Amino acid sequence: MIFHRSIITTTLFIWISFYSFAQQNETKFSYRGMHLDVSRHFFSKEVVKQYIDTLSKYNINYFHWHLTDDQGWRIEIKKYPRLTTIGAWRKEKNDSIYGGFYKQAEIKELVAYAKARDITIIPEIDIPGHSSAAIAAYPWLGCTGQQIEVPNRWGIFNDIYLPSDSTFLFLRDVMDEVCELFPSKFIHIGGDEVPKKQWRENELCKKLMKEKNIKNYEVLQHYFMRQIEDYLAAKGRRCIAWGEAIRGSVNDSLIIMSWRGKGAGIKAAKRGNEAVMASRFYCYFDYPQSAKDKKAAWWMTYTSAKKVAKFKPESKLLNTEQNKKIIGAEATLWTEYVSTERQLWHQLLPRLQKFSEAISKSY
Ligand code: ACM
Repeated sequence: MIFHRSIITTTLFIWISFYSFAQQNETKFSYRGMHLDVSRHFFSKEVVKQYIDTLSKYNINYFHWHLTDDQGWRIEIKKYPRLTTIGAWRKEKNDSIYGGFYKQAEIKELVAYAKARDITIIPEIDIPGHSSAAIAAYPWLGCTGQQIEVPNRWGIFNDIYLPSDSTFLFLRDVMDEVCELFPSKFIHIGGDEVPKKQWRENELCKKLMKEKNIKNYEVLQHYFMRQIEDYLAAKGRRCIAWGEAIRGSVNDSLIIMSWRGKGAGIKAAKRGNEAVMASRFYCYFDYPQSAKDKKAAWWMTYTSAKKVAKFKPESKLLNTEQNKKIIGAEATLWTEYVSTERQLWHQLLPRLQKFSEAISKSY
């Protein structure tokens, strides 16, 4: 009898342990992302490894690596060496040179390192804006043809890619090398903060719009991005773009990353596109977390760990079916005001834990 009871107790114990283990590992969303901007400030391969290690401890399965922006191009592209001999370096206000980039061998090492920790690295090549560093390297990529410098201040720049055949050829070549390095199904192609000033003033753009019956500059942005989306789709990849990409027209397979709030993600889900919520009011870890932190820029809002814990990627404005289009959430770490490792961890750690809890069922 005692023997029987102990068998029953043991079985029950094993079953309960397994059930609670399974519950702990059950996650609400298939996309649980964390981003790092290495353009504004560069972080070494070793720091990126530690970053990946940390993400793996917090149930993150996508590391979104923001590799290109105005202030620095950080990925070696063999066909276009000036991207890293020129585009990876900026002259600071005190005349010192700041920069760096990852060699292809280092990138392969990091991709494997992440994979061993169940993390997929999603590279971001930002188009058509946030591209001053590339234009500084190859001025024919820009709308004015003028030589510009890699900027050494923060902000949104008018220098954006010209929608010319040579630019598209360049981007396809870049994507060939990107796809060789990153096996990720998803590739992030930016699409955020694109001032249309230079397009409005450009004859080639006017001609293209007439020829293709493109009715405004938001649709021209869609046309631009679509060239690259279709190219990547033919290689079996799917694109993610920031919320602004939904303004003109949008391809059904594009995944919208909603950052200005949840609006773009809601719009995407309603039209049947998948979306990842990265609302800046909860998920921007460059923002200060308490009154003890310096507010580095006026547009930042206080985002405490307690607030992050309340983040819900779904929306009451969507019905059950539409909410299923919200495949997950992502937190970002922009680095305009994060220049040291110490600060990197300070911005990341308290909020990553809460973010992870918020987007996982139980922990
Ligand atoms: C963004 O914060 N510009 C996506």
